[in-house]
Amino acid sequence: MIKSTTDKATGFEKRFENIGTVIFEDSTAASKAVAKEIATLIKAKQKSNQSCVLGLATGSTPKGLYAELVRLHKEEGLSFKNVISFNLDEYYPMEPDSIYSYVRFMKELLLDQVDILPENYHIPDGTLTKEEIAEYCRNYEAKIKALGGIDLQILGIGGNGHIGFNESGSLQNSKTRLVALDHITRVAASKDFGGLDKTPRTAITLGVKKIMEAKKVILMAWGEGKSNIIKDSAEGEVTNRIPASYLQEHNNAVFIIDKAAASKLTRINTPWLVEKVVWTDKLVRKAVLGLALHLNKPILMLTDADYIENGMSDLLTDSGPAYDINISIFNKIQHTITGWPGGKPNADDSNRPERAEPIKKRVLIFSPHPDDDIISMGGTFIRLQEQGHEVHVAYQTSGNIAVADDEALRFASFVCDYNEKFGIDNKDAQNIYENAVTFLKNKKDSEIDSPEVRYIKGLIRKGEARATSHFVGLPDEQIHFMELPFYETGTIEKNPVGEDDIKITMALIEKIKPHQIYAAGDLADPHGTHKVCLDAIFEAVKRLKPKTFMNDCWVWLYRGAWQEWGIDEIEMAVPMGPDQVLQKRKGIFKHQSQKDGVVFQGSDSREFWQRAEDRNKETANLYDQLGMAHYAAMEAFVRWEF
Ligand code: F6R
Repeated sequence: MIKSTTDKATGFEKRFENIGTVIFEDSTAASKAVAKEIATLIKAKQKSNQSCVLGLATGSTPKGLYAELVRLHKEEGLSFKNVISFNLDEYYPMEPDSIYSYVRFMKELLLDQVDILPENYHIPDGTLTKEEIAEYCRNYEAKIKALGGIDLQILGIGGNGHIGFNESGSLQNSKTRLVALDHITRVAASKDFGGLDKTPRTAITLGVKKIMEAKKVILMAWGEGKSNIIKDSAEGEVTNRIPASYLQEHNNAVFIIDKAAASKLTRINTPWLVEKVVWTDKLVRKAVLGLALHLNKPILMLTDADYIENGMSDLLTDSGPAYDINISIFNKIQHTITGWPGGKPNADDSNRPERAEPIKKRVLIFSPHPDDDIISMGGTFIRLQEQGHEVHVAYQTSGNIAVADDEALRFASFVCDYNEKFGIDNKDAQNIYENAVTFLKNKKDSEIDSPEVRYIKGLIRKGEARATSHFVGLPDEQIHFMELPFYETGTIEKNPVGEDDIKITMALIEKIKPHQIYAAGDLADPHGTHKVCLDAIFEAVKRLKPKTFMNDCWVWLYRGAWQEWGIDEIEMAVPMGPDQVLQKRKGIFKHQSQKDGVVFQGSDSREFWQRAEDRNKETANLYDQLGMAHYAAMEAFVRWEF
């Protein structure tokens, strides 16, 4: 049974959170626990011949939960015959058979895969006329009421704190209704709809009141992207700006979250403020850096009083005075900085992030998309090449999804025009481009690209990646295109890592026998391409571990385009001067298909080169603030020990 803070009977100890929060290692374990709780409830209701009324959510969060429920049905005989379900919401207008509809989502992921009776599930109807909606919503609520209310409501949470589609500003007694979607919600959804302009502006949602009336509520959240809103909802004031915060006032609500989503909670982020802690090296570093940044003081200027007044007096007792702790942390941070990411030849390396030997290293940079290498570690990439290492770059996926149709049409038409003028012997090759042009000219919004179009989009990105690598100075034989199969679904939704992905990755590592591997370490993103690419590398490295060459191989993780390592986590910081920043920018510019407004812009309107520069500058500023040397920019890495 999952404990809930506000369930008085369980005696959950309240800390900084005003709502019960249960933290799991990862979303899979958490989803399984929630599925188990649902199964227990369904069975208990079956025993007493009652129906079980479930409130269900869509979005990326409950996918693992539904997969586990389907497994419980298929493998352990869990029956859904007594289940009556009500979904939270549906886009409006929306046809039920559209690939974007929540009806289709629910049927594919759960309803059609279990034995729930078709008359027992309810999903708001996106096909009504505007005039019909109010009456429809009243009936939706009346049906729930007639069944005695929702027994268990499952929720996800929006980046703005919405529950269902009750956006910021929704009142606690709001009813089921037609709502306008927030810009931030539409931006999040636009990655599924292939652009903001194609994303619906309105939706029908169950109101907050009915959610609050549910007998139990479980809100689930995964990934670092949700960590800020989870902290605000669980620890902040109850406010209509964050509808999830209303759950603090529910008497049986709980947040089920993974470690990444929990990372900003006070008891995780600054545990010494909540309870007595064992001061590990990692924790001391985190606490001291946090203190310095909080007080806006360089590390060496922190005083005993600063430690005492900020809940760190037991650290002083353990290892003080402040002067000693400061020096020790200052040195550690100082030693993370190096202009020699491949190790400094003939230098004492006892306090450097990398080994001096061998002087010339074989380096393998894995880039999930064709531009992550230059965006996220371009300065280091260039340094490694300039410092004489044998640098290989491996583009893990084709990245074809992120090329706009008009860009592909431009290239395909170019080839067609060329062929028409000069003729071409190979009819099959000609057909690829002609078919692509015809397809693109007639493509509907919701259509998946034809194989020809995907091929052309992949070619465009391949050309750009090659151009970057040539710009850095790599010969062709050190540029590898892996085209991992998990990515090639033609849709945003990717397959999980498969045996073929791992084998391809292992083969490349074995061929190169690298001394250094660089990988995009977006550990917190539970569904994205980067995570799958990383899973393939982790698995490949683990399997190759017994091989002798692996004894001499170090793995460094960089962060993708969207986020940076925490300042306390960084183990190698490679500084850049102003000229190197410009050089990196030129390298990023080779990715023309990703400039001037991209398919997956997200909520950040900056271009990739701007995001990269801002982020690298921010890291350098933090080092400066801590009292280190002031550089124009810095790229950050964490070592993964396998
Ligand atoms: C979905 C819903 C939304 C989502 C929320 C999080 O039915 O009502 O509140 O739960 O937007 O979405 P994901 O899970 O995609 O991050």
